[in-house]
Amino acid sequence: MSKDRVSRRQFLSYTLTGVGGFMAAGILMPMVRFAVDPVLKAEAAGEFVATKQKVADLTNEPVRVDFTYKQKDAWYESDVTESAWVYKDDAGKIVALSPVCKHLGCTVNWNSDKEHPEQFFCPCHYGRYTKDGTNVPGTPPLAPLDVYPFKEKDGYLYLGKAKPRKEA
Ligand code: FES
Repeated sequence: MSKDRVSRRQFLSYTLTGVGGFMAAGILMPMVRFAVDPVLKAEAAGEFVATKQKVADLTNEPVRVDFTYKQKDAWYESDVTESAWVYKDDAGKIVALSPVCKHLGCTVNWNSDKEHPEQFFCPCHYGRYTKDGTNVPGTPPLAPLDVYPFKEKDGYLYLGKAKPRKEA
């Protein structure tokens, strides 16, 4: 019998140590990730994404501005495209509204309902919003459209993460 031969006791000991290590890693990794993730997310919060919209070209007529950014979910990175309805109000201030209907999430369009011109219209259940994004009472949406924080850089519009407003 060779000296290098592993005894049954040693084999069991190695195997159990290995399996125990795997199990411990499986339990500890999600806990570590849970603890670290908020820190990483806080860094990403408040980021503004560049759009191709020149601020000088904005008028008081809402235009749809599409923009794309990279989203990282654990190890998976993907491109996400979002949209905003953007215009300048009577005071010349930029207004950037989310096109996501507050009823069930369809996409609202500007001025597409002939019976109610100059409003945002949701074709799914005839939801309507006034130009500033306020939901029209008596239509399905119960809250105004979310607003994007924005900033201007080198003449271009940058948009942040859309935020909900108070209910009308
Ligand atoms: S999803 Fe817009 S009105 Fe229902």
